[in-house]
Amino acid sequence: MKKDINWKELGFQYIKTDYRFLSEFKNGAWDEGRLIEDDKVVLNESAGVLQYAQTCFEGLKAYTTVDNKIVTFRPDMNGQRMIDSCSYLEMPVFDKEKFIEAVRKTVKANEGYVPPYGFGASLYIRPYMFGSNAVIGVKPADEYQFRIFTTPVGPYFKSGAKPIVIRISDFDRAAPKGTGHIKAGLNYAMSLHAIVDAHNKGFAENMYLDSATRTKVEETGGANFIFIDKNNTVVTPKSNSILPSITRRSLMYVAEHYLGLKTEEREVYVNELSDFKECALTGTAAVLSPVGIINDHGKEIKMPSGMDDMGEITKKLYETLVGIQLGTIKAPDGWIYEIK
Ligand code: PLP
Ligand code: COI
Repeated sequence: MKKDINWKELGFQYIKTDYRFLSEFKNGAWDEGRLIEDDKVVLNESAGVLQYAQTCFEGLKAYTTVDNKIVTFRPDMNGQRMIDSCSYLEMPVFDKEKFIEAVRKTVKANEGYVPPYGFGASLYIRPYMFGSNAVIGVKPADEYQFRIFTTPVGPYFKSGAKPIVIRISDFDRAAPKGTGHIKAGLNYAMSLHAIVDAHNKGFAENMYLDSATRTKVEETGGANFIFIDKNNTVVTPKSNSILPSITRRSLMYVAEHYLGLKTEEREVYVNELSDFKECALTGTAAVLSPVGIINDHGKEIKMPSGMDDMGEITKKLYETLVGIQLGTIKAPDGWIYEIK
């Protein structure tokens, strides 16, 4: 039975659901894992995660399709990225197949919280791992917890499908050099000041630049960029210090194979921003959110697609991706994992 939730009004927030998944790593091995009801995590005061921020996470969504199935989108990609994050952070990896199975179990147990088809909402799934035993010297923990919780969500940006206003940030990219490819708690902690500062000044997000030359576009605090140029080519910044967004990689495939558009992953310079027709933010939470204005230290770069709606190509990309996720458009093999 579906829970009594106003699906239409959901924003991007945490709502406690009934079950979460927990697996514990002790004496060099992961246990079987189980679903639990307790949403509290009780830890030693010197746990590795609390002292040295040894933690990483993932984000994906479950959807109700047009034919009333519950599915997830490319969870194998999240499982692989989490393996990459864990390896970099000296944490034990959690097997990809077991990751997918744990996602499946957790979503199934919280079925009543998966928003029905047609509300523009989904169940956000947050797998995460952290060092759980006491460490006081600077070193990796010996014990870990892998957990998954879920929360029903609506749009990440308050404006929904309306274009948003962002600014070029003077703060550096959240991720310390070389860690952009991992989804580590520390990277996000380092971005919080920049995000609060942007919000205080009326901007929805920061456009971070490469820290070495401050001439190239990287990403925002929670999403990658795509741009549409005058020839309708879909352009996305190439950088090894941004998070390799699964949504962005999927959209580039959709652009090429579903819409017949040219795509380019290349360095994108700040001084070419005004040449683009469209700009949008892409990620699991952001989906594909149009950007109307990029504020460059007081100078407004207005995207010709305007402030009222998505640009033409952004809209096609958005509708195709969402159609694939919701089962109205045939998905490439292996993209959709049926849960129920
Ligand atoms: N970049 C950052 C910094 C993010 O936090 C996210 C969200 O996960 C993304 C990009 C988008 O990645 P994905 O499409 O895999 O969710
Ligand atoms: C996601 O899109 O899954 C993220 O982790 C981004 C975060 C800002 C919610």
